[in-house]
Amino acid sequence: MEDLQKLENGIISGIAAQDTLTGLEDLRVAEVGKKGHVSLLMRELGKMTAEEKKEFGPKLNGLKTRIMKEIAARKDELEAQELNRRLQSERIDITLPSPSENSGSIHPITQVMDEVAEIFTELGFSIAEGPEIEEDFYNFTALNIPPHHPARQMHDTFYFPEDEAGNRKLLRTHTSPVQIRTMMSGPPPYRIIVPGRTYRCDSDATHTPMFHQVEALVIDKDIHMGHLKWCIEEFCRKFFDLNDVKIRFRPSYFPFTEPSAEVDIGCAFKDGEILIGEGDDWLEIMGCGMVNPRVLENVGLDPDEYQGFAFGMGLDRIAMLKWGIPDLRDFFAADLRWLKHYGFAALDIPSLSTQKSGGRSPRDRGSSSSPKGGRPPINKNSGSK
Ligand code: DAH
Repeated sequence: MEDLQKLENGIISGIAAQDTLTGLEDLRVAEVGKKGHVSLLMRELGKMTAEEKKEFGPKLNGLKTRIMKEIAARKDELEAQELNRRLQSERIDITLPSPSENSGSIHPITQVMDEVAEIFTELGFSIAEGPEIEEDFYNFTALNIPPHHPARQMHDTFYFPEDEAGNRKLLRTHTSPVQIRTMMSGPPPYRIIVPGRTYRCDSDATHTPMFHQVEALVIDKDIHMGHLKWCIEEFCRKFFDLNDVKIRFRPSYFPFTEPSAEVDIGCAFKDGEILIGEGDDWLEIMGCGMVNPRVLENVGLDPDEYQGFAFGMGLDRIAMLKWGIPDLRDFFAADLRWLKHYGFAALDIPSLSTQKSGGRSPRDRGSSSSPKGGRPPINKNSGSK
């Protein structure tokens, strides 16, 4: 057996001489790796007498342990050196002035959410939120859509696998479950809006699997359809920045409202453009109605004492209408050129505030829609999606 002390000294000085992590790793493999120098010496133990084994076994083990310890210590040193080098080279001088041109921008959907929130908070609404991974009860059953109700089929739901109790969670198909969560969380009155993400298994030019809605719920004593109508008209006037906006309520069906209606906004299709507030055409923008007494009962409210209205509106669609954005899928394509064109300056306050304070509106976006790429492929019958 070679001189173990000499061997150890040699290896230890070799470790100290390594100045890269890869060099150190190569040395580790060569000395204490499976086929390394020390490992081969250990194999020789097999050929030794019991006496020799007794002497060399502990010596070799000790040698290996000390070498590994030295390697680990040197590794820590080299890693710390490498980190320091990176910290030095990646240093950012935060006292430097910011670039003259703002590079980030606010996504049009965020801008719409801000504007919608601004309009409704001014009308006395507060903002509510709920989970995007929802329970069947809130998304369907409590909204008067029991199992096997045909309305469930219209929702193209993304379901999660069943849990042990046989319940399946789902991605909420609309913002309406937050109505239920709100009404179960405390006593009326309620006056809330719920902007948020919603999901349905559907994808083409006018549908994306994730889209955005805003829900509204008002519950109090003596609320009637007149309140609903005024509220929606007021919203459209402010959002589209038009004094004379034409609105039409068309009878419809939703399980959670009775009576139910769909709301169309007056518009004109002219030379490949949609002009809101003009002409004899109509575009659907939302579903609404008086909250179904059954829904009130489901959350423990007495329908003889309380009534209210609700509506649900597709945010992506009203953004497309307001700024003439022709293809829904562009909202989610993360194309920087598109974001630069349609995005809003990061420090812009929602355009309504800037208008009131005499500031400027978002750059080159009029209040009537003027899509640059021709008429948006709007499906007239998918207003809340
Ligand atoms: N939740 C409906 C949907 O996604 C939209 C809707 C219709 C919401 C009528 C409402 C309502 O609150 O009253 O299609």
